[in-house]
Amino acid sequence: MAESRDGAQAQSTENVVMYHPSKDLVENANVTAYMRSKGLSSYDELYKWSTANPEEFWADQANELEWFQTWDKVLDESNAPFFQWFVGGKTNIIHNAIDRHVKTWRRNKLAMIWEGEDGSSRTYSYHTLNREVSKMANVLKSMGVQKGDIVTIYLPRIPELPIAMLACAKVGAAHSVVYGGFSVEALADRMSDAQSKILITADGGYMRNKVIELKKIADEAMARTPTIQNCIVVKRTGHDIAMESGRDLWFHDLMSLPIASPICPTEEMDAEDMLFILYTSGTTGRPKGVVHTHGGYQVGTHTTLKFVFDLKEEDRWWCAADPGWITGHSYIVYSPLLVGATSFMYEGAPNYPYPDRWWSLVARHAISVLYTAPTAIRGLMRFGDAWPNRHDLSSLRLLGSVGEPINPEAWRWFRDTIGAGECPIMDTWWQTETGHFMITPTPVVPLKPGSATRPFLGIDVDIVHEDGTSCAPDEDGTLVIKRPWPGMLRTILNDPDRYKNQYWEKIPGMYNAGDSARRDKDGYIWVIGRLDDVIKVSGYRLGTAEVESALVSHSAVAEAAAIGLPHDIKGNAIHAFVILRAGFEGSPKLEEELRAHVGHELGPIARPDEIKFVGSLPKTRSGKIMRRVLKAQALGQDVGDVSTLES
Ligand code: WT7
Repeated sequence: MAESRDGAQAQSTENVVMYHPSKDLVENANVTAYMRSKGLSSYDELYKWSTANPEEFWADQANELEWFQTWDKVLDESNAPFFQWFVGGKTNIIHNAIDRHVKTWRRNKLAMIWEGEDGSSRTYSYHTLNREVSKMANVLKSMGVQKGDIVTIYLPRIPELPIAMLACAKVGAAHSVVYGGFSVEALADRMSDAQSKILITADGGYMRNKVIELKKIADEAMARTPTIQNCIVVKRTGHDIAMESGRDLWFHDLMSLPIASPICPTEEMDAEDMLFILYTSGTTGRPKGVVHTHGGYQVGTHTTLKFVFDLKEEDRWWCAADPGWITGHSYIVYSPLLVGATSFMYEGAPNYPYPDRWWSLVARHAISVLYTAPTAIRGLMRFGDAWPNRHDLSSLRLLGSVGEPINPEAWRWFRDTIGAGECPIMDTWWQTETGHFMITPTPVVPLKPGSATRPFLGIDVDIVHEDGTSCAPDEDGTLVIKRPWPGMLRTILNDPDRYKNQYWEKIPGMYNAGDSARRDKDGYIWVIGRLDDVIKVSGYRLGTAEVESALVSHSAVAEAAAIGLPHDIKGNAIHAFVILRAGFEGSPKLEEELRAHVGHELGPIARPDEIKFVGSLPKTRSGKIMRRVLKAQALGQDVGDVSTLES
């Protein structure tokens, strides 16, 4: 069995039972219809054709959407790796996500159904969504928001979050959403890097019936971010908060002003204009602002949702992520609207008030396709089958998984207990940077539990050695993507060199995903885990550097190292090693204080499970902390080659 740097293990690829799709599913799949329209008779042939003719494939897909002006060139590679897609095309993702639907019968179809943790619910048809988005777009314009600005959004999982994102896109501003589980330092860093003038937040959010004090966190973060001029505050909890006069404005007050007209033209954008920034963790230093654009992103997300989750007009789609991460951007907010689907969103915790909350939601809202993460599946699985068995889950027809490798045990439970032994599971591998699914089955592909199966149409994936040569079947290597794809990141905000070095130069000419993987004899890909200093905790992506920087910002800490160790539910848990400053002494109380400090600075998801006080840290002679050694020691493994260790 292979191991990644974080100790994760790939599942054995031998003796794996294949799960074949039903005839009915294959016959009626969207991808089957497309295959036939190309005069092809198998998915293999379709894949081969799509990668031999990627520009034709993606142009086909782009033609499913409306453009103000069609493109001159599908792909421009002249300034590689700064690839451009649909060059010369004029568009706006909002035109395809909303405007084109409200011209048809779909105006009265539900676009979004939301249920609060307290059981309250709100629904938006395409028509009412359009009105809300337009009103908010007019508010933003009246506050001086223009094409090219970056608006930071820090909201709980409430409908105003997608509405704010869509309103930004409509006026041509980029949004930068900061996940509501992040805290002061994380928010301040992201607002500063984006030079945001406006922050949209809420008086709080609910999680397990407790109020998360978003505005309080935002106040502290704004105090560290001089660029912020105004803060729009959505009222969710109604509890007392401080409002700074001149800076803070209530969302509901703004939305009731005459300026907030429900009619607002959608800004015409170049295909390559920025749609959003999303910060994600990398190997070193501060999070990077991944840049996505209107044209390619709308094509990539639309195509993948339509073919992978096979969405039909009558489906009810639930992507149980948070809009604050790429999964939510692409598959809660944008692509469901692009395909004209009804998307469901739930505010709170999966096990609140009881461990059957999710299953009750599926039953009550007749969810037909459910997309979630292995950590959530494992977390709900441990409560036993009685909870799901109390509910009628027969509306489900497809399931999905994302975020980390799914262990076959969780895969089978998901299929058998939730999917009545029938629902195929689409295990989708992708990243913040890729924008949309890259390695994934479609409903016609036979499945192997634990494998994301095969590259998506038009996507050229390989597993390679350090020199870029292909690995043999079953040999571990680095996962790379060999050809550009429409939803790819275009650059890192303010740091194009980092974009080039990090993704395209380590293995020259190929996109380096930072994951290790192997391909079996059937061509199925098994993703093993991260090769860099990124830790996936409950599917959330965190950098060791961010956790360490939060730790050393505490007055007692001189130096810190963070690693991920395997955890049954979370996949990985953070463990930290801390050297204290002179005059401080390690104690359970200080450990708790440091944990709380990380929670306050970075966010509750980043709180280390364990903090050890140590006298020294293993370092290379150049002073780099050797996390690999810490990990091996913690796991009781051979520490390997430490010849570069400082002596
Ligand atoms: C990293 C990207 C974009 C979806 C949410 C995560 C891991 C993601 C899978 C999967 C195995 C997976 C990889 C990847 N990952 N999906 N199906 N099987 N690993 O986006 O936060 O940018 O993280 O998540 O390690 O590099 P992200």
